[in-house]
Amino acid sequence: MKNIFPKDFIWGTATAAYQIEGAWNKDGKGESIWDRFCHEEGNILNGDTGDVACDHYHKWEEDLDLLKDNNIKHYRFSIAWTRIIPNGTGDTSAAGIDFYSNLIDGMIERGITPWITVYHWDLPQALQDKGGWTNRESVEWFKNYVATLVDLFGDRVNDWIIFNEPSVHSWLGHGLGFHAPGFNEESTYLKALHHINLSIAEGYRTAKSIRPNLNVGSSYTLLPTYPENENNDEDVTATKRMFEIWNTNHFDPLFTGAYPAFIQEKMGNIMQDGDDAKLQENLDFIGVQHYNALHSTHSESHIFNVFFGEKPKGIPQTDYGWMIQPDDFEKCLVWLSDHYDLNKKNIPIVITENGAAFTDPVVDGACNDERRIDYLSGYIGAVEKAIKQSAPIQGYFVWSFMDNFEWADGYSQRFGVVHVDYDTMKRTPKKSLLWFKDFTEKH
Ligand code: BGC
Repeated sequence: MKNIFPKDFIWGTATAAYQIEGAWNKDGKGESIWDRFCHEEGNILNGDTGDVACDHYHKWEEDLDLLKDNNIKHYRFSIAWTRIIPNGTGDTSAAGIDFYSNLIDGMIERGITPWITVYHWDLPQALQDKGGWTNRESVEWFKNYVATLVDLFGDRVNDWIIFNEPSVHSWLGHGLGFHAPGFNEESTYLKALHHINLSIAEGYRTAKSIRPNLNVGSSYTLLPTYPENENNDEDVTATKRMFEIWNTNHFDPLFTGAYPAFIQEKMGNIMQDGDDAKLQENLDFIGVQHYNALHSTHSESHIFNVFFGEKPKGIPQTDYGWMIQPDDFEKCLVWLSDHYDLNKKNIPIVITENGAAFTDPVVDGACNDERRIDYLSGYIGAVEKAIKQSAPIQGYFVWSFMDNFEWADGYSQRFGVVHVDYDTMKRTPKKSLLWFKDFTEKH
C-alpha cells in the first residue's frame, strides 16, 4: 500500500504511572485506590502489586535514553495524582512535582515531545474515602487537580489527555468490581459514569481557560461488540448494552449532551438541570484506544444483565486471548468519524493506545516478538485504510513502551516493545521496537 501518512503524523509509545513507576509510598506520595486495591488479598492475579512495578521512578533516565536511542519522538505518560497532591485536595508535594518536572525536562532535552495523561485510574484514596467518583464533588476535586497540573507543567507540555478510558474505569471499577475501587452495583456505576463524563468536559474547559493554546483531548476505548449467540434475543440485547457501556455512554454525552436512552432513563436525579450542556465539549482531539472485539452474553448476575461471552473459534488471538481483527479497528474508526461528524467539527483522532500482549521471552539477549510485529503492522494498516476513508487520524501510540503491571492480571501479560526482567529490572528492547523505529523513520 502506498504510504499515506503525512510527514507530521505523530508516532509514539505510551505508559501509565501506576503500571510502571513503583515507589508507591516514597517521598510523601499518598495512597491511591490502586495501592489499596492491590494490597487487599484476592484482587490481583498471583497477589501482584504495583509497589515496585518497573521501578521507573528510579530508572526514568535510563528509560528516556531508550526512547531517544530508538528515535521515539512522542511519549505519553500519566501523572499520579497522589504524587502531586497526596490527599487529592490541599497541599502539594515538592518531591512529586520535582519528579515529573525532571521527567518532562528530560524528555525535552532528548527531543521527545511529552504527552501528559492527567488521570489513568489512580484516584487518591483520601478522595475515595469521601465516595470517590460516586460523589458529585469529584468534579470539583478533578478541576482543581487539572488546574494544578496546567499551572505546573503547561509552560513545557503542549499535549494533554484529560482522562484515560472512562468506560473501563466506570464499568470494571464501579460496575463489575474487577478494578479499583472494586464496586459492582448499578448505582455506583451510574454515578461514576456521570461524574467522570462531567469531569472530562469540565477538565478540558479548566485547562483551556488557563492556557487556551494547549492541545487538550481525552482518551476513549472504541471496541465493536458481538453477541455470543446471534440467534438468542437476550444476547443481542446484551450486545447493545455492551456497545453502550464501552462506547456510546461516553461519546454520546460528549457530543450530544444525552446518554443512550436505556441509561438516560436510569440516571434519575444523578443528572441535574443543566448537566446536558456541561457534558458537551468539542475537545481538541479524541484519543482512541482499541485492543479487542467483545462478545456479549445475557447474565442475571451482572448489572444491566450483560457480561463477557464466549469468543468464536478460529479467529487469531493474542496471548491474552484478545481477538486479532484489524478490520474491526478500521470499521470502528470510520464509524466514530462518520457517526459524530468529526471532519465537519474539525476534531481529529489520535490513536493513544493500541498493542498486544505476547509473552515472548528473552533468549541470548534478544526478544524476537515477531507476532507483535505482525499485529502492529496489521493495525497500523487499518489506520491507513481508515484515513483513506477520511477518518481524520493524526497520530498513533503503541501500548506499551515497556512491559508493565497489567491491572487485575498483574505481571502475567506483557504489552511492551521493551522487555522488563522483573527480578533484575533489566530492559531489553524487543524486535518490535526496532521494527517500529524503522517503520516510523520511513513513514
Ligand atoms: C489501558 C492500559 C492497559 C491496556 C491493556 C487500556 O485499557 O489504558 O492501562 O494496560 O489497555 O489492557
